[in-house]
Amino acid sequence: MSAIEIWGEMVRLEHAQSDRMRGVRPDDHWTQCAPQFKADPHRSGDTLVDALRAHLRPADTLLDVGAGGGRLALPLALACQSVTAVEPSPSMCAVLRATAREYNIANVSIIPAGWPEADVAPADVTLCSHVVYVVEDIAPFVHKLHSHARRLALAVLFQSPPQSQIYPLWEQVHGEKRHPLPSLPEFLPVLHELGIQPQVTELAAQPPRGYDSAADAIESIASRLYVTPNTDAMARLEQALADSLHETGGVWQVRGTQPLRPCLVAWPTAA
Ligand SMILES: C[S@@+](CC[C@H](N)C(=O)[O-])C[C@H]1O[C@@H](n2cnc3c(N)ncnc32)[C@H](O)[C@@H]1O
Repeated sequence: MSAIEIWGEMVRLEHAQSDRMRGVRPDDHWTQCAPQFKADPHRSGDTLVDALRAHLRPADTLLDVGAGGGRLALPLALACQSVTAVEPSPSMCAVLRATAREYNIANVSIIPAGWPEADVAPADVTLCSHVVYVVEDIAPFVHKLHSHARRLALAVLFQSPPQSQIYPLWEQVHGEKRHPLPSLPEFLPVLHELGIQPQVTELAAQPPRGYDSAADAIESIASRLYVTPNTDAMARLEQALADSLHETGGVWQVRGTQPLRPCLVAWPTAA
């Protein structure tokens, strides 16, 4: 199988397993967690924002594909001429729109559509952060990221799948191994097959996710495992977490969780 076929197969298998566990696929997958993608556009010390900003020039236009709640689009809008945010999730668009209004950032326009189908003009730089893991048909997606960038394309991916920290729980709760989504190790061979030689920069590891309480942790992990209250699966999850949830300084974490490491993948697109 080619790297592009392996990528598609991994996404297909993961999606099929998710559909089987949760039943009906929600219209907007992000409704619950969209508020987590809100962040102060003026914050400092965010290594990802700093790394992306270093690639931008003040006169640049930026196309942020899968912009979410504007965690990156809004700070980057302060460093370039304008940002076009392509985002299919209504709840994410709502967070992005409200945050732009709250901070008076007027040079961001939102295209409420998915990629690659979105009808949008090219920009100097395209950016796609933590989106490609779920894209089954990866070749046209990357091809358009490339063809719509006049100067530079940027992608941000973790070195392991975003939910990999809870993959071990699948076996304990559902009695089967989780099919992993593809991430950076599968993305680089895809780029190679597409004739793209990127520069890859490893960024600071993200500390494991913390929760406000044990109940908050169980609820959040349960929803990511498609486990509902008052079921045998919930009892198995509570049992699995009983020994591994611990609290330090008011923050609850799952013991032994490995941090996720983001990488910035950059390639020039000018002919
Ligand atoms: C994990 S969030 C990342 C948001 C933002 N880029 C960030 O790094 O904070 C993934 C986002 O990708 C969007 N997305 C998923 N599939 C997409 C597609 N085919 N085209 C554009 N956006 C997509 C989702 O709606 C979601 O907002």
